[in-house]
Amino acid sequence: MKTIIYYFTGTGNSLAAAKKIAASHGETEIVPIAAFRNITDEISPDAGRAGIVCPVYFAGLPAMVASFAERLDFASANYVFSVVTHGGGGGSAALRQLDGILKDKAGRGLDAGFAVSMPGNYILTYESPAGEKRDRLLAAADADLERIAGQIRQETRLKLPNSPVTRIVKALTYPRFRSHVHGDDRKFTVTEKCTSCGTCARLCPAGNIEMGGGRPVWNHRCELCCGCIHLCPVEAIQAGKGTEGRQRYRNPSVGIAELERQRGAEP
Ligand SMILES: Cc1cc2nc3c(=O)[nH]c(=O)nc-3n(C[C@H](O)[C@H](O)[C@H](O)COP(=O)(O)O)c2cc1C
Repeated sequence: MKTIIYYFTGTGNSLAAAKKIAASHGETEIVPIAAFRNITDEISPDAGRAGIVCPVYFAGLPAMVASFAERLDFASANYVFSVVTHGGGGGSAALRQLDGILKDKAGRGLDAGFAVSMPGNYILTYESPAGEKRDRLLAAADADLERIAGQIRQETRLKLPNSPVTRIVKALTYPRFRSHVHGDDRKFTVTEKCTSCGTCARLCPAGNIEMGGGRPVWNHRCELCCGCIHLCPVEAIQAGKGTEGRQRYRNPSVGIAELERQRGAEP
């Protein structure tokens, strides 16, 4: 039975999770959500199993994932799942948000949803873990994903996790995130360290960065994935003083070239 996995990622955690699940299945297609960003058509995948893998942002879904899900009709899939990756919490509210969007769209929500703890990458407010701490987190995530992949293979139907505290955090933080996210790139600056390599422009999943005069220019379609800050090879991109000298992060099992392909050829 064919499986299709749609993913969105900033720094590779969610793509690593998607790849890990795909590796334990038979025929599986891994499709970047970013490739659909300029397409308004409905999406009805022809697959027995279908899933969405993405990070948690402010206890909810990345804006691009929420609008993608609004165009998604999973009605013909036998089994629908989601895996959200997060740096510490908020997964249950993000899964419930996705379930609600899918139900509104096609009357068919998630059969199972899983939240996996991975290194946090919200560099605007904290430092990503490094060294042994990062490796321990990734090893634990790998074990979780192994178990989750087995449950997906067996099409295990599970009640979605629920956390009242997480629901409150989402209610307090997510609406502001959604209404401001595209313009949050106004905080981003580039220093004289920039070598004009264009990596940031190539890997931005929103296609939000152009090179102008050899420097990145942000066009206010930002998803706040923080990929440009984390993945700049010379750490030339900052968002205020707070990101200066802060540890950068990329999931070690995902290469820059894979991230650059995320925006892909449009389907
Ligand atoms: C804008 C933004 C908001 C985030 N909000 C949360 C959050 O509410 N809860 C949490 O545990 N992690 C949060 N994170 C951390 C990411 O969910 C986590 O690091 C995720 O695994 C990153 O996945 P990626 O590498 O696929 O982009 C946030 C990260 C960003 C960039």
